[in-house]
Amino acid sequence: MYTLARSLMFRLDAETSHGLALGALDTLHRVGGVKRLYGEPVSDPVELMGLRFANRVGLAAGLDKNADHLDALGELGFGFVEVGTVTPKAQPGNPKPRLFRLAEHGAIINRFGFNNKGVEHLVAQVKKRHYGGIVGINIGKNLTTSVEQALDDYLLCLDAVHGVADYIAVNISSPNTPGLRTLQFGEQLDALLGPIRARSQSLDDALGRKVPLLVKIAPDMNAEEVALVAGSISRNGLDGVIATNTTVSREAVQQDPQAQEAGGLSGRPVFEASNTVIRLLRAELPDLPIIGVGGIDSAAAAQAKIEAGADLVQLYSGLIYQGPTLVKQCAEALKEQASAH
Ligand SMILES: Cc1cc2nc3c(=O)[nH]c(=O)nc-3n(C[C@H](O)[C@H](O)[C@H](O)COP(=O)(O)O)c2cc1C
Repeated sequence: MYTLARSLMFRLDAETSHGLALGALDTLHRVGGVKRLYGEPVSDPVELMGLRFANRVGLAAGLDKNADHLDALGELGFGFVEVGTVTPKAQPGNPKPRLFRLAEHGAIINRFGFNNKGVEHLVAQVKKRHYGGIVGINIGKNLTTSVEQALDDYLLCLDAVHGVADYIAVNISSPNTPGLRTLQFGEQLDALLGPIRARSQSLDDALGRKVPLLVKIAPDMNAEEVALVAGSISRNGLDGVIATNTTVSREAVQQDPQAQEAGGLSGRPVFEASNTVIRLLRAELPDLPIIGVGGIDSAAAAQAKIEAGADLVQLYSGLIYQGPTLVKQCAEALKEQASAH
């Protein structure tokens, strides 16, 4: 059924079909159809960062930027759902078109540029959800905020989401907000993570509950750069890392007519690059919780992410190409893999 829906959807402009698919999912959810179609999530409870994940497969950030579809998406069998990236103020993002399918490669290029309704809206949506699973909130900075002032935006978002998030992901790896990725390097990373950690610690103390703080990084890093990031993560006592975001490399898709579109490339072409980053991080920080994301389009690909060193996985592009049955396939495969070890 998804194959049929997909062939219809793929005839439309990518962003239009994206919106229609989410609208259809919401409608199906309201009449109880999502649960009937996809059943109960795979039960494979995992304790990590003080949280209990229903299974190891999560939805990656960016599909539900405003937490407007949380209940419907939550019924697709995910062990956790990450919403955002959200910024302090609403912003429109980049002009359209800004989403491109590279179907032959099982890939997507997006240059959305953090289009979202602002953090207040997202918090209200998260508060009224019925979805009972883990909800991560991914935070970023507004386009109009300079990179030098980025910390202010992260702190504004942190303050706003802390009380309603199960975990918080600091996104410093989107290629679509100019200069954002420079925050991943050198002293800038400590200058950002230090104060964010300190604030989250005091919010945790006030709330009487620890809300794990993670950072989401890019795949476009060499071993030395990953080692520097790992150093900063451990110095600043972060609870985990999400590896990785989209890539700016076009090496794997050179022949595609859309390859030169600006933005972040996701899906199959980012699979190996993200695995490499995960392996390097695991070698640097043996006990660090790692959420592995990038190019998971099959149960075997999900298992390979765990073998590379991830504790949990997330997916996005694979869901667009393979449909929601991928979620259960991956969750079941990871359950089997864990019980075999
Ligand atoms: C259309 C689109 C929008 C995205 N938006 C965000 C975002 O707002 N924040 C973020 O951290 N990652 C975002 N991502 C990156 C994904 O969360 C994920 O890290 C990346 O796509 C690799 O996973 P995949 O190959 O399974 O898609 C986006 C990805 C896509 C395809």
